[in-house]
Amino acid sequence: MGIRTQEAAAIELETRLITIRRHLHQYPEVANEEFETTKAIRGWLEEAGIRIVNLSLPTGVVAEVGGKHGGPIIALRADIDALPIHEETGLPYASRIFGNMHACGHDFHTSVILGAAFLLKQQEDTLPGTVRFLFQPAEEKGTGASLLIDHGALEGVQAIFGLHNKPDLEVGTIGIKPGALMASVDGFEIIVEGLGTHAAIPHTGIDPIVAASQMVTALQSIVSRNISPLEQAVVSVTTFHGGTTWNVIPHKVVLEGTVRTFHEEVRSFIPKRLQTIIEGVAEAYNARVSLRWFKGPPSVQNDPELTELSIETAKKVGLQVVVPEPSLAGEDFAFYQEKIPGSFVFIGTSGREEWHHPGFTVDERALLISAHYFAELAIRALEGRASG
Ligand code: NI
Repeated sequence: MGIRTQEAAAIELETRLITIRRHLHQYPEVANEEFETTKAIRGWLEEAGIRIVNLSLPTGVVAEVGGKHGGPIIALRADIDALPIHEETGLPYASRIFGNMHACGHDFHTSVILGAAFLLKQQEDTLPGTVRFLFQPAEEKGTGASLLIDHGALEGVQAIFGLHNKPDLEVGTIGIKPGALMASVDGFEIIVEGLGTHAAIPHTGIDPIVAASQMVTALQSIVSRNISPLEQAVVSVTTFHGGTTWNVIPHKVVLEGTVRTFHEEVRSFIPKRLQTIIEGVAEAYNARVSLRWFKGPPSVQNDPELTELSIETAKKVGLQVVVPEPSLAGEDFAFYQEKIPGSFVFIGTSGREEWHHPGFTVDERALLISAHYFAELAIRALEGRASG
């Protein structure tokens, strides 16, 4: 291709990706309801002659290019779901579905991986293996990755790559680091039961509000006193429900919260310590307590070798590599990494607001270079595996 035609092709692809991204942005669908999104993605893939892998998914799409000469399989993953947030960006292509918004930029991720698919399709005959594209639903619920794994999406796959946009990184930069990048996400519910009574005769009852209050305070000591100051963790109590009126001591209080960690030892330690603390406090106050634990995605742990490959590739396509600060938010990409080696990166998108904010935006100048990055990464990963 001459330079002119190369330039024209780049402009054409960029225009296409912007159009796709704006379409997705205007019609955001929340977790497990991505029916129109699924149809649209399928349509764009089919239009490009890319084969769909039929996994009988309710929502989400899996597709492939290459594999004509056999060889390894690697996967590129995008998430496709939106959030139940009312958009307040004022953009001309703002959400047309009331109360839903692509406030985490999954429309951007989907467009980038579609772009990579279009680029790889053009070189399909010479690919030294197969690139599988996972357009995954329900990331925000933390359930979509497991759903795809259960439907066989990782079968034969040797390595997986994924991305999240990062508003605080400039367009043209990419955050890559080995090891822990995003936190595990677990939740809990604590039920404190006492004995309800008249507020004026508290000695005849057992006050669960006082006991639960002591628990909230005591739980603060897990991070500050039981975990190394060099380790990172969060224990947050986020709801406190009890009582119905001002002159009655209630029977019961329900607390909810979340725990975020970067390492499995810390992750498995916290529920044990939490249980000990709440049982001790309950005993001191004559109350009864029960705990329910909700295990979410583990932490995102980047494979060192694939991370090295990500860094080399980023430099090759002209992205500036930075070492990102790990995020305490969760990402169900971690479930894939439990099965096979993976590398997850942060793409700089010069956003106005943080993830999940009604004013969240991404800068579309990041689309084309990111698509090139993932196409190049896929080829290099295949080459590495085909020869090694
Ligand atoms: Ni997200």
